[in-house]
Amino acid sequence: MKVFVGRPLVEPSTVEILAGHDVTVGVGGLPASEWPHLATVRALLPTPRERVTEDVLASAPRLALVASHSVGVDHIDLEACRRRGIRVTNTPDVLTEATADLTWALILAVARRIREGEALARSGAWDGWKPEQLLGVSLQGKTLGIFGAGRIGRAVAKRGVSFGMRIFEVRREDGDVRFDRLLGESDVLSLHAPSTPETAGRFGRPEFLRIKRGAILVNTARGSLVDEAALVEALSSGRLGGAGLDVYAKEPAIHPGLLAFSNVVLLPHLGSATFETRLAMARLACEEIARFARGEPPLHPVA
Ligand code: DGY
Repeated sequence: MKVFVGRPLVEPSTVEILAGHDVTVGVGGLPASEWPHLATVRALLPTPRERVTEDVLASAPRLALVASHSVGVDHIDLEACRRRGIRVTNTPDVLTEATADLTWALILAVARRIREGEALARSGAWDGWKPEQLLGVSLQGKTLGIFGAGRIGRAVAKRGVSFGMRIFEVRREDGDVRFDRLLGESDVLSLHAPSTPETAGRFGRPEFLRIKRGAILVNTARGSLVDEAALVEALSSGRLGGAGLDVYAKEPAIHPGLLAFSNVVLLPHLGSATFETRLAMARLACEEIARFARGEPPLHPVA
């Protein structure tokens, strides 16, 4: 079967699982110059950086499967795939623990001022231990708010229990009263909802005005959930005590206002970036293609 893989993946994934198929690996981003390759392709394996738009689909008239190397599918025009009868799959579960770990790396980095401490240690200006130097905040007994209580949100909450935190989970479909409590009670607010029209800009100016003073915002889900200009404003006013971000509204661009704060830790979308996890994601996406070729049902169809 003819397969197009958006960009090089962690191996052995394609070489083992797609052996025997006619595989082309792209340069990333699915530029229009690559669309001629898609003309005869039956399966496409994009990462979140390959946007599967109506135009891309139009250049792939024989396409029957989009097996995404991601749990998020906001880079795929699902409606257009549905109209064309194209199956879409994703890679949940295998990245849950790695993403929850990285979320906690951000929570701890912001709460304990790791970025500033590391800079001081390297600077040559550190003159020794002081009772009031770089004081952070304790997490024990504080409230960890989770927006989006799916697999990753629950894994982050589970870790929060070991840190002695009180957990307050809110699902996307919960009403305003619970959402307001999330804003008002969370000392650390961690976002774990997918990017959809309903979640876009869910955390904007009105929400930051209601958020508990000094709260830490952490986002390892999708940048679109947060209005970044409003976030910069909330950090400038001191309403927010800090932020830990792995995702951005216009990746790979980062709102320039975020770069100035010492209480903001920025990572380049590393949530699932362990060798083991990225290999498992690649293998799972390839496995979906192999199953399709064998006429077997998908493991993780996207509704
Ligand atoms: C995903 O899978 O959606 C992540 O954002 C990339 O690991």
